[in-house]
This record gives sequence, structure tokens and C-alpha cells, in this order.
Amino acid sequence: MNTKLGGLILATVATATAIGTFGCDSNRSGNIRATVFGDLSHALGAHTRAFAEMRTACDASVPAGSVDGPLQRRPYLQQLTARSVRVVWTTDASISDASVTVTGTDGTLVAKEGADPDPSARPGKLAVQWSSAIFGLEPDTIYCYQVQAAGVPLRRGGFRTAPISGGARSIGFVAFGDSGSGSADQRAVASQLEMVPFDFMIHLGDIGYETGSRTDLEAYFFSVYADLLENFAVFPASGNHEYDTESAAPFREAFVLPENGGPEGLERWYSYDFGDVHFVVLDTERTGATQAAWLDVDLQANRLPWTIVYFHRPPFSSGEHGSDGSVQRYFVPLFVKYQVPLVLSGHDHDYERTKPLDGVTYVVSGGGGRGTRSVGRSSFTAFSLSVCNFVYVTVNGTELTLHAIDGVGQEFDSFAVTRPAK
Ligand SMILES: [Fe+2]
Repeated sequence: MNTKLGGLILATVATATAIGTFGCDSNRSGNIRATVFGDLSHALGAHTRAFAEMRTACDASVPAGSVDGPLQRRPYLQQLTARSVRVVWTTDASISDASVTVTGTDGTLVAKEGADPDPSARPGKLAVQWSSAIFGLEPDTIYCYQVQAAGVPLRRGGFRTAPISGGARSIGFVAFGDSGSGSADQRAVASQLEMVPFDFMIHLGDIGYETGSRTDLEAYFFSVYADLLENFAVFPASGNHEYDTESAAPFREAFVLPENGGPEGLERWYSYDFGDVHFVVLDTERTGATQAAWLDVDLQANRLPWTIVYFHRPPFSSGEHGSDGSVQRYFVPLFVKYQVPLVLSGHDHDYERTKPLDGVTYVVSGGGGRGTRSVGRSSFTAFSLSVCNFVYVTVNGTELTLHAIDGVGQEFDSFAVTRPAK
């Protein structure tokens, strides 16, 4: 079986292989190529690339003659919905006026919004974090945007709003964890993300090694994924390394997340809807009764046909960290109660998919680039492999499909589940 991701990917395989061969971090290099394979009966067929579509639609490149000027952190997209998006970026502290212009793909002006400096964010003594929310957009529509500082046009990008629930279009996302150290492994995985037609990105935690500091997040997240972040929203979970700095304050400052986690969960745990899927993001550095009670209420209230939950520490893992007992105790009974079909985690630097456990399938995708570590097999294991990876998940009205893809673009495992009756 040909496990490559369609013909478009072939040109980039050589590049990723070369990076992995001569550029690996000598201390942390991992396996970027899968050598054994799991279930490929649901393998991805021919497909388009997400980024190519956006580049064509919006010329998502630096305008001719433009320089980044006062731009520090390039624009990134937060809280994307069917009707709205939030654009965030940082500039030098010398800038006191910033805005964003949104157009249709034909150049028609849709909105010009001023941006506000975020007083809660501390991107550095010499920087300001800007945030601008755009409302009144049409679902499942590509828009183009450009940020300005002191009236000077800077970067531009594009985004596609989420589809409404109940529509015909499937949605797709990429997810990975444990990426952030700037290694060749990280760049190998990153180079493969744009090969699949996803709608948004999920990070499963341990975003910025070693301590989740502001410097770590800039160097090992925002810089590495800048091209993607300019065009695709990200909904991250925090990991234990984020908590090494001020209990993950830099994470909560840089990311502007839905604030529906309650007083204790503010930007630590949250939920959001995208198409037919309700996503729940948990914080496994704060596992306990308070968060479990919130999770129970959140899942009870969900009326969408699909639910996916993700967080950092896995409840079932045959990797070096192993299964997290607290997550098992507080959260797993609720996943079973509400029959959550898919739960994603990171933390162990490998890939593992469980058999359905009381109706719930758990996947560890902690191979985003911080090297790989050994993984074994347990009674609950369906497939496990020590390899850099990300997962690409698609959901349509009747089926959820997961594709596990390595650092050279090979799909090495897949899984599908049909929609449970609600
Ligand atoms: Fe971790």
C-alpha cells in the first residue's frame, strides 16, 4: 500500500529527510520516519494542501517592498468561529496605533478594525501585544487580512471561517504535542503539517521548552509556525513545561482563549465549537474535582453530534511517563458517561492509540519535535510507535477519521469511528 499522502507531498519528503539527516539536535533527535505500520485501512487518499489554497486566495506573503518594521510576533488567529475571528500580534513599544483590515478574496473591504493593546499580556518590556476581534463574517468563507502599525501596512494573511453545524462540509484539524525546542525534528514535523487540508491547529501541550517562558514561546512556537499561524487558528492546551514559568502565565497571556472555564479555569480549561464538533480543552496541571465538575456541566450542555476532548497528560499510555492516575480518576468516568469518541493527549514523546475503552479511544501524539522516547504496549494498546508525528483528524456528519503521520509525511496508522447515537 502506498502510504504517502498523495502526489503533492513527494517533493517535500526529500527536504524533510535531509533536515532529519544532517540537522538533528544531537541530544534530542528522534525517529522521524515510521518503520512499522498500524491500521491503514482508513488511510488518507488524494487531497489538496491547506496552505496553498490560502496563499492563492490571499497572496499570503509579505507585500512587495514591505518590511516587518515594528512587527515582533507575526499575526496569529485566535477563537475562530463561523462568524468571527481575533487577530493578535506584537510590535515594538514605540507603536501606539494599530489596526487590521479584512477584505474578501476579490479585495472588497469587509472591515477595518482598530486594535487594542492587551494590558494583561507582557510580551517584553519593549513590546506591545495587539488584539483585534472581527465580527459579522459569513460561515465557511475565505477572508484576507492585513495588519497595520501607525498606518503602515505590515503582514497579510488569510483565514476561512468555520462552517455552521449541520452543514455538508467536513472539518479537519492537525494536532500534536511536545514540539517546542527548535530542533530539526520539530521543523520536520512542521513542514508536513501544511500538506493536509486542515481548518485549524491544536497543540497538546509542552509548547515551549524548557520552561514555557515568553522567550521559549517566541522562539519555539510563534517563530517556528509563523507562516501557518498567520492563516490558521490555533487552540492550544498547556503542558507541564508551560507551568514551569509563573504557573503558565506566559501561555495565558500570549494565547487569547475562550474564557468559559469559570473563575479557576480562566484560560486554563475551555471549550469551543467548530462545525459539528464540540471541543473541550482540559488542563492536566490542574486535574481535580473543580475541573471535573466543570467538564461534567460542559459535556451535559453539548448539543452538537460530535465531541473531542484534549489535554496534555494521557490517562492511558505505555510511554515513559505512563498513564496518569489523576486523569483516570477525575476525567475518564466523564468521557465514558458522555461517550466521547476521541480523546487526544501528548506528554509521552511517541504515538499510541488505544483500543476503544468503554467506548472511548485515546490517542497520544507527543512526537511534535522534542525527540522521541521508547514506548511499549499495554493490554489497552491498539498500536504504539516511537516516532515524531502529528495527527490529522477529519469529521463529517457520520464519521470521524484520524490519520497518524510521521516527520517525512508517511501515514503510519489510522482509525475511524462512526457517529454514536445521541
Ligand atoms: Fe509533558
